[in-house]
Amino acid sequence: MLRVGVIGVGYWGPNLIRNFVANPGTEMKMCCDLRRERLDYINSLYPTIKITENYKEIVESPEIDLIAICTPVFTHFELAKKALEAGKHVLIEKPMTSTSAEGEELLNIAEQKSLQIFVDHTFIFTGAVGKIKELITKGEIGDLYYFDSTRVNLGLFQHDVNVLWDLAPHDISIMHFLLNANPESVVATGADHLGSGIENVAYLTVYFPNNLIAHINTNWLSPVKIRQTLIAGSKKMVVWDDNQPSEKVRVYDKGIEVIDSADEVYKMLIQYRTGDMFCPKIDGTEALGAEINHIIDCLNNKHDSVISGKAGLMVVRILEAAQQSIKSRGKEIKI
Ligand SMILES: NC(=O)c1ccc[n+]([C@@H]2O[C@H](COP(=O)([O-])OP(=O)(O)OC[C@H]3O[C@@H](n4cnc5c(N)ncnc54)[C@H](O)[C@@H]3O)[C@@H](O)[C@H]2O)c1
Repeated sequence: MLRVGVIGVGYWGPNLIRNFVANPGTEMKMCCDLRRERLDYINSLYPTIKITENYKEIVESPEIDLIAICTPVFTHFELAKKALEAGKHVLIEKPMTSTSAEGEELLNIAEQKSLQIFVDHTFIFTGAVGKIKELITKGEIGDLYYFDSTRVNLGLFQHDVNVLWDLAPHDISIMHFLLNANPESVVATGADHLGSGIENVAYLTVYFPNNLIAHINTNWLSPVKIRQTLIAGSKKMVVWDDNQPSEKVRVYDKGIEVIDSADEVYKMLIQYRTGDMFCPKIDGTEALGAEINHIIDCLNNKHDSVISGKAGLMVVRILEAAQQSIKSRGKEIKI
């Protein structure tokens, strides 16, 4: 039985608690928040969970094995460091830390103490991403050409991080999981329309070896909510529209073939292939529930995790490089 404490029960923390309570492999022991009203809310739902305003009670408790850190990004490092130093495994919200130096320090502490860091890259555990990964792994999409993701809506404007740090961790973690390739460099541009120094529109391009390219569009100032990802390969193309209630993933047997031409003027001819489209069946299990099962499995069986601290650090490295690129109006930054 994995005994759990949760620090931070604002908007997202209660979702973690609900899933820890529901999982037969975890025991939800204690939670903490600086705001009394959030603790009262949790207490009204789950009277057996201990509540505290002091995170040290969770960190120092001998009854807790894993601490979930669900507080604002700038607090992740200090809280995770204290938890690891006290010998606890951690599940840190995305993005893992505010800087890659902080992320590296956490990874070092975890290694020294033989502890595991998990980062809540929730989308990796959705049925849609699982199905797309399966198609890619089976070779059905062919050689990958591009990953193109749009995550735009109106708000919520954050005060401490820009739109890229807020929304793109989802897309970057999905991209990293699906493409299974090491990024070479990034180029990013963005704009701040409030004059707050925090960009509310940002476009990120990530270059990989073998001509593979990714583009991520994030925006808090869009009149419509779009959650759409296109992935193209040499054999098939995938469209994932997460706003659709059903048939979220569509696989198109469309593409191009280059054929040699006898004609001197047109040496290369492009032939278009437009075949069938199919919608694969998607597992409807809640992603957070699947993620918790994965964490239990990794801890019990010493498996490598797909949401390890290393994966979290890669996301932070890309965000950091993107931030640097935005500030220099799109300079290419090596990863
Ligand atoms: N995985 C996802 O899909 C997902 C979705 C939303 C948010 N998040 C992440 O979750 C984290 C929290 O986001 P949120 O939207 O819930 O924020 P929030 O502001 O609603 O909640 C954060 C809570 O942490 C508490 N807190 C801050 N410092 C604390 C401390 N030192 N000790 C105890 N409590 C403390 C605050 O009082 C607040 O109630 C962020 O990292 C965010 O990126 C992830």
